[in-house]
Amino acid sequence: MTLSLTTGPAGTRILGLGHYRPSNIVTNHDLIARGVDTDDEWIKTRVGIAERRWADPDETVVDMAEQAGSKALAASGVAAADVDLVIVATCTMPTPVPGAAPNVATRLGIDSPGAYDLNSGCSGFVYALNAASAAVLTGQARNVLVVASERFSGWLDLTDRSTSIILADGAGAAIVGPSDSPGFGPVAWGSDGSQADAIAIDERSRMFRQEGQAVYRWATGAMAPVAIEACEKAGVPLEDIVAFVPHQANLRIIDALARRIGLPNAIVARDITTSGNTSAATIPLALSRMVEGGEIPSGAPVLVLGFGAGLAFAAQVLLAP
Ligand SMILES: CC(C)(COP(=O)(O)OP(=O)(O)OC[C@H]1O[C@@H](n2cnc3c(N)ncnc32)[C@H](O)[C@@H]1OP(=O)(O)O)[C@@H](O)C(=O)NCCC(=O)NCCS
Repeated sequence: MTLSLTTGPAGTRILGLGHYRPSNIVTNHDLIARGVDTDDEWIKTRVGIAERRWADPDETVVDMAEQAGSKALAASGVAAADVDLVIVATCTMPTPVPGAAPNVATRLGIDSPGAYDLNSGCSGFVYALNAASAAVLTGQARNVLVVASERFSGWLDLTDRSTSIILADGAGAAIVGPSDSPGFGPVAWGSDGSQADAIAIDERSRMFRQEGQAVYRWATGAMAPVAIEACEKAGVPLEDIVAFVPHQANLRIIDALARRIGLPNAIVARDITTSGNTSAATIPLALSRMVEGGEIPSGAPVLVLGFGAGLAFAAQVLLAP
């Protein structure tokens, strides 16, 4: 017996972006006032963060995803009725069940789409983009809402100064839909489960833990070749990349990666300085802010690189909406 296959358009691309940052600004001095044993100068020099956003106590992953998703829908011009799939990339839901995606869809007036959550830590958004693009390319969805939403303030140990200063809350979203030509290059991705314990939420304490120096070495050493591979797969010379939007983990990691990859003409996302590390949300949050601010022109090739818990990573060249 032969089963039917659906077919889709010639290409897919991001049609619109949106982001949401909670209104509550937490400066380095605010952290010290809350009892974190640190100092402003150390954080700015070693990590590059001046301030981050934390959600209000009653503000949830779903609330933030709804805000970002609503803006992405508006920016794309796609009607809620024309979205067939919703993917929420997150690793900070307060409980494993239910997932966020069906709830986000209902709140946005998207009627009965396919809906699921995807957890690949800080690389989750790039993985979700690929799942979305594949669904459209194979004719299984006309348009897909991809949201990354994280609420790390609920998982922080304020006595651990290597993590409590870094992590933050926020959301970013994209609508992925059809196009006449490809708006995504092939992904370069991979993982290393032998380092599964390097970034984790501790089972007993329910607090976020990381082996900071091991992660730093891994990110600065192993991720540049992955980014270069993504450019090669897409057939885009490094000098043609207009913007580099890596996961916002540490400004020193971002700058080291930009140097090692060698991107002579790219502006580099440094959203971490005012948004902190929002895990899966850093890439769409930074990209959305840069596009909204006019820093990245429509159609420009952008290199995105997600990496983190798992350990897992994914890089890709995409065209700005
Ligand atoms: C966590 C991280 C910022 C720590 O920076 P580091 O330079 O490796 O810091 P170390 O742990 O080696 O400590 C160096 C010194 O700074 C001090 N220090 C560490 N954290 C501090 C803080 N928040 N404030 C002030 N001092 C701090 C240490 O006590 C140590 O002091 P000492 O030399 O007197 O003993 C860094 O390792 C990092 O960014 N790693 C990557 C983490 C990451 O990206 N995670 C997310 C992955 S998706």
